[in-house]
Amino acid sequence: MITTAAITDIRAQVNAWRTKGETIAFVPTMGNLHQGHITLVQQARNQADHVVVSIFVNPMQFGQNEDLDAYPRTLDEDSKALIAAGAELLFTPTPDIIYPKGLAQQTYVDVPEIGDELCGASRPGHFRGVATIVNKLFNIVQPDMALFGKKDFQQLLVIKTMVEDLSLPIDIIGVDTIREPSGLAMSSRNGYLTAQEKIHAAALKQALDHMAASVQQGLDIETVTQTAKQSLIAVGFTPDYLELRNAHNLKPACDYDKELVIVAAAYLGKARLIDNLTFTR
Ligand code: PAJ
Repeated sequence: MITTAAITDIRAQVNAWRTKGETIAFVPTMGNLHQGHITLVQQARNQADHVVVSIFVNPMQFGQNEDLDAYPRTLDEDSKALIAAGAELLFTPTPDIIYPKGLAQQTYVDVPEIGDELCGASRPGHFRGVATIVNKLFNIVQPDMALFGKKDFQQLLVIKTMVEDLSLPIDIIGVDTIREPSGLAMSSRNGYLTAQEKIHAAALKQALDHMAASVQQGLDIETVTQTAKQSLIAVGFTPDYLELRNAHNLKPACDYDKELVIVAAAYLGKARLIDNLTFTR
C-alpha cells in the first residue's frame, strides 16, 4: 500500500490506473479503524479494481467544544488493517494541505434541508464541514464510486444529496452497520466508554428495536418514544434526539409513510453515540 500526504501523488496514481481503464473505489475515514471501516474497504475491493482510503480528522466538521484534539489517531494499526483488507493507496493529508488558507475559506458545500436538523441541530456547521471535505476529497481522488456506512444515516443522505445536486459522476454505496455482539454499533467514539458504560451502551440498539416493533404494532408514537427515552435514561444515557422519520428524506414520518427510520443520538459518559434502524410498516 502506498501511503502519501501529497495530493499530486494521489492524482498521479489514480491517473495511471484510469489510463489502463481500471476502476477506483474510495473510502473516506477519520482513522482509528474498526471492523465497520474495514467492511467498507472489503466491499470496495469487491466492487472496483483499486481501493483508495483517506484518513483525515477533519477540523471543519468539529464544533468548538467537541473532541477534535482527543479524537484517537492510530495510523500504524490502521495501516496494517488496511493492507490486510486490500487497500492500495492511503491518503493521509495534514490540515495545512487540505486547508492552506485555514478554515475560513470562501467556498463551502452546504446541504441545509437535510443537514441542519437532528445531528446538524446539535452540531451546527457539522454537515457543512462533512460535505465540504467529502467534496474536496472527491475532487482529489476522482473515484468511480465511494462507500459510506449507514450507521451515519444522515451523513449518507447529505452525501447522496450533494452528489445529485452537484452532478458529481460518483456512485454512492451505503453499507450496513457493523455491530458488536451486544448490538452496539461499532464507532471510534466507543473508545471513550468505560467497561461498565459499554455494557449499558447496548441499550441504544435495544431501544431502537423495541420502538420499531411498537410502531409496527401501530402503538402511539409519542408514548413509544417516551418509553424508549426512559429506558435509555435508566441506564445512564442523556438522550439528544430519538425520532421516527421518513427513510428517504428524513422528514418527520407521516401516517402513510411505509419506509421508516428511527434515528437516535445520546450521550453516555464522555461519548456521544448515534445509531439508527430502518424498517417498513
Ligand atoms: P468516520 O467516522 O471515520 O467513518 C468513516 C466511514 O465509516 C463512514 O462512512 C461511516 O459511516 C463508516 N462507519 C463507521 N462506523 C461504522 C459501522 N459500525 N458500520 C458501518 N460503517 C461504519 O464519517 C466520517 O468518518 C467522516 O464524517 C468522513 C465521511 C470521513 C468525513 O470527514
